[in-house]
Amino acid sequence: MNGRHCWWERGIIYQVYPRSFADSDGDGVGDLAGVIGKLDYLAWLGVDAVWLSPIYPSPMADFGYDISCYTDVDPLFGTLEDFDRLVEEAHRRGIRVILDYVPNHTSDLHPWFVESRSSRENPKRDWYIWADPKPDGSPPNNWLSSFGGSAWEFDGKTGQYYHHAYLKEQPDLNWRNPEVREAMLGVLRFWLERGVDGFRVDALRRLVKDERLRDDPPNPDYREGQNPYDALIPLYSSDRPETHEMVRMMREVLDGYGERLLIGELYLPIESLIAYYGSGVDLPFNFHLIFTPWRADAVYSLVKEYEAALPPGAWPNWVLGNHDRPRVASRVGEGQARLAAMLLLTLRGTPTLYYGDEIGMHDVPIPPGRIQDPFGKSFPQLGRDPARTPMQWDDSENAGFTAGEPWLPLAEDYEEVNVARQRKDPRSLLNLYRRLIALRRSEGALSTGDYSSLGIDGDLLYYAREHEGRRLLVVLNLGSDVQSTPARGRIVLSTGLDREGEEVSGRLTLAGGEGVILRSSG
Ligand code: NOJ
Ligand code: MG
Repeated sequence: MNGRHCWWERGIIYQVYPRSFADSDGDGVGDLAGVIGKLDYLAWLGVDAVWLSPIYPSPMADFGYDISCYTDVDPLFGTLEDFDRLVEEAHRRGIRVILDYVPNHTSDLHPWFVESRSSRENPKRDWYIWADPKPDGSPPNNWLSSFGGSAWEFDGKTGQYYHHAYLKEQPDLNWRNPEVREAMLGVLRFWLERGVDGFRVDALRRLVKDERLRDDPPNPDYREGQNPYDALIPLYSSDRPETHEMVRMMREVLDGYGERLLIGELYLPIESLIAYYGSGVDLPFNFHLIFTPWRADAVYSLVKEYEAALPPGAWPNWVLGNHDRPRVASRVGEGQARLAAMLLLTLRGTPTLYYGDEIGMHDVPIPPGRIQDPFGKSFPQLGRDPARTPMQWDDSENAGFTAGEPWLPLAEDYEEVNVARQRKDPRSLLNLYRRLIALRRSEGALSTGDYSSLGIDGDLLYYAREHEGRRLLVVLNLGSDVQSTPARGRIVLSTGLDREGEEVSGRLTLAGGEGVILRSSG
């Protein structure tokens, strides 16, 4: 604790998608030694924690989110020794390590599932969710898989269906079974003992399903062409009340190890999202900025609604991108990427940065023959590969990511858009991120201060942050035209570079996509 706030409240989280960050051995896939080699970069950037997407042994049907052993490292990424070295090296630089924890499902090749499917009498049968076909042989109910089609797969050998919220290669564990709970809570202990600082819990809302397996109701707003998963309202297959009991158990395990962070991946409306604070999630991931139109009025209403909904003591958080969603630079457009950085790093609450967003990486079109994502193979327009392409380190061959053939194609503009070039350029997006992070660290007003909305004026969004009498004003132009508004103060940081130190005494004029932070003079 530092004052009233713990490390993850003051801190900034950086998500690494290990396959795509840095490849040390030339096999075209990023690895732990690669991440270790880039820790100095992350320290230079100024982040407090790195969250690694799954590094466990996996057949890679869903690129690591299908785990066949929870207590080891996939040889593709390295060894447990490499992991220990990563923790040690990260900690030496003051960077915490957060692992992805995938409790909802295993790989179909996990020994537990191999046993479970071997016979109806197997002691592990009930570790997964098995149900009889309907009399006509069809699946037990209408639940849908997030990746398309039924969420049930028939097993000919034992004559029952098993449930899979994602791929059929990702059977769902049965968290109602105490042995499953014990085994999966043991996984948390295993990694806590190795020194990890927290977990991002995958697919948390899916963890417990309706005991009676009732049908999900149809979604009246569904339109043809939308993600087929959205055809039903997942009333009985998601966000069940019992999930909170499971979260409490995870919390209890973490609490045995001091100040450890529990993040929940929860795509939920604000009202149900914030309920997870109550059961012990420190940061129920707030993805709402990803889905909100990039307009001053829309962002204003979202922040207002979210701030108002937070229960007492709950710490907010904001996310602009991850490995499942289109990149922020592609969503908001290049002209607004700097502003998005300023918004993320000046709102109240822990920011999570997705690797590459700090240099403005955009979605990379993937030729049909190179699609890797199983979801993208079924629904090319929804594929996630475009946001998972290799990190662009420099202008050498393969952007300095690998000496081999990269597993996904590189962006065609990597010779211009890369870390090495942007580090040297004081005007770059990377240096803007770095300056914003540094300011957030040094100004209590930005890291832990109060937030008050000052409203909107046309395309301008503005708010104040305040801590112990120090007040900063943030003004952002989400439009593309010049706008002006009454304001007073000295500019301490701007999305451009040329305005720092400028005294504003009456009117502030901002170009399209421009944002400033002012030290308020009253
Ligand atoms: C959410 C993860 O972020 C995503 O990448 C994965 O495919 C699903 N959960 C299933 O684990
Ligand atoms: Mg490698």
